[in-house]
Amino acid sequence: MATEATPDRLASDLARELEVMLEIEKFPPPEGFRESALWSDPAIYEEAAADPVAWWTAKSKEVLDWDVEPTEGLNDSNPPFYKWFEDGRINASAQCLDRHVAVGNGERVAYHWRGEEGERRDVTYAELLDSTQRFANALKDLGVEKGDVVGIYLPMIPEVAVAMLACARIGAIHNVVFGGFSAESVRERMEFAEAKALVTVDGARRKGKTAPIKEQVDEEMGDLASLKTIVVVRATGTPCPMTEGRDVFYDEVCAAADPECPAEPMEAEHPLFILYTSGSTASPKGILHTTGGYLTGATTTHKYVFDLKPESDVWWCAADVGWITGHSYIVYGPLANGATSVMWEGAPDYPHQGIWWEIAQETKATILYAAPTAIRTFIKWGADIPARYDLSSLRLLGSVGEPINPKAWLWYHKVIGGERCPIVDTWWQTETGSIMITPLPGITATKPGSATTPFPGVSAEVVDEKDGTPVAEGQGLLMLERPWPSMLRTLYKEDERFVETYFSKFGKDRYLVGDAARRDSDGYFWVIGRIDDVVNVSGHRLSTAEVESAIVAHEKVAEAAVIGQSDPDTGQAICAFVTLNGGVEPSEEVMAGIRDGVAARIGKFARPKRVIWADDLPKTRSGKIMRRLLRDIAEGRALGDVTTLRDPGVMAELEKQVAAERENDD
Ligand code: WTA
Repeated sequence: MATEATPDRLASDLARELEVMLEIEKFPPPEGFRESALWSDPAIYEEAAADPVAWWTAKSKEVLDWDVEPTEGLNDSNPPFYKWFEDGRINASAQCLDRHVAVGNGERVAYHWRGEEGERRDVTYAELLDSTQRFANALKDLGVEKGDVVGIYLPMIPEVAVAMLACARIGAIHNVVFGGFSAESVRERMEFAEAKALVTVDGARRKGKTAPIKEQVDEEMGDLASLKTIVVVRATGTPCPMTEGRDVFYDEVCAAADPECPAEPMEAEHPLFILYTSGSTASPKGILHTTGGYLTGATTTHKYVFDLKPESDVWWCAADVGWITGHSYIVYGPLANGATSVMWEGAPDYPHQGIWWEIAQETKATILYAAPTAIRTFIKWGADIPARYDLSSLRLLGSVGEPINPKAWLWYHKVIGGERCPIVDTWWQTETGSIMITPLPGITATKPGSATTPFPGVSAEVVDEKDGTPVAEGQGLLMLERPWPSMLRTLYKEDERFVETYFSKFGKDRYLVGDAARRDSDGYFWVIGRIDDVVNVSGHRLSTAEVESAIVAHEKVAEAAVIGQSDPDTGQAICAFVTLNGGVEPSEEVMAGIRDGVAARIGKFARPKRVIWADDLPKTRSGKIMRRLLRDIAEGRALGDVTTLRDPGVMAELEKQVAAERENDD
């Protein structure tokens, strides 16, 4: 219900916003929420801290039904290669499916799937189990064995969950690539991982248009020797080329397959999946997660961070399955908990800007987990759009992917949550596998913009950049202080890079996150952002080096430097400084060529928002590009120290070029 906007009301709103900005105001759990929350006693933190390994082991046995229960928790004999629950045996797909069907919940809806053109598919647990068994057998028939890597490049359709679970059922390692990545990125990820099979679609829909995915995949995958099979889901009926002896249709192989595929219990440390993510260099990192520990983390956090009651809740994680958020909170966590989820195929503004709220109303969603970038977009579209829908079923809201600014937090709280829903701002990473720093909705008094404190059993610290000593209050590097079950085990086939990236700075028992953060006087964590060359665009992780190498691949480009520039909509945006080859004049055409090149090599979401022509780039005497100065110049700030520049004159030239760019824009 809209409240009348009297001057008093406006003044009190303003005062509250100011208080929030000053970090004074806290939002305790609403009384009604606290009373029925799974966890409402803060003693849980001490209980976990007293013996974290024993606590995690107990949680693991609580949320999962092991085929063979582990007798050990953590094996830390070879840090940083930690192992969890080593002698336990478990099958991830059986945890997500069979055990719910076995206790009579087969008719429960696993996914309320909603398609772009208004299609509805409510997939039950029994149906999902049936499809998974068939596809698992089909994969076996195609020669896929335990330990083989299977690529998955699918849009948001139920088959993406089936494909992941079918791999897990037979011990194949899935390697999902977000549908927004280009076919060239898919190839790279298949090549690195030596994938034996790839599951994709004929075509994928986006906002009323259909992209010929299989055709694009074929252009890139032709000569990849390790890839023996491509399975094509007929999602749109788009005609597509099929190569005899390599390509098969999903529906045909499933129809021909045996309907029963008993789940084989896997070793707890058997690899479950690889997910490539961006780091400081151009080549993506293959984050490897294993079975028992990962499932423990995803399932426990999904249950307790979101206070999940599987019989009554309708859970909606609005991420894409292609990112870690989708792996942990669309597939493994919710299914292992027996939850009913919403799966939305499309964009937030197709067929109209109220589609999310229409779906929430229709499915009676109770918990919504979304990214700040989406919330900022909704703010721009106006509060009158969600106001047209009945959102009273919502009882809890979540945020993930980037820091949420207090203004967006307050809007989310008021306009979407009707001031009755707690907000959990969850900090974590592809590497951590599950949520690490977060409020507990029945316990924590939240502060807008802070992810508050570590989940029970997790220990985080902000440390001094130089010597690693803890910074009690103030800014420093965020570290995780002890191993947790769902942590990455290594970078696929790159053990050395794994140690170097995360454990070389302050020792093998302290995981270097790659984010800067600070703590306030209440001990709350405020994550500031990445300290490495990773840019976070709308919650999508990209490395500046990756984008640079895509730009310099353009024949007319001599050199490029990419930075993340703060952006009111997407959090950060890609800004590229580009030096053209001698004799080439800057033009709209070259600019379009550069942008298209990035889209083709990485994906459309990586296209630079801004291209600044630069005759030269600021470099140190040893030839290193000084990105700090580029950031200053792009954001129009006073320049920092320029004394270490080889040629300080470069900056004056660049400033002129930025001014010229502004004029062109006007
Ligand atoms: C950022 C996404 C502030 C952070 C789950 C991290 C956040 C990176 C938050 C990981 C948050 C994620 N507040 N920053 N609540 N959540 N981040 O691997 O910089 O795609 O290191 O995992 O996103 O991105 P990734």
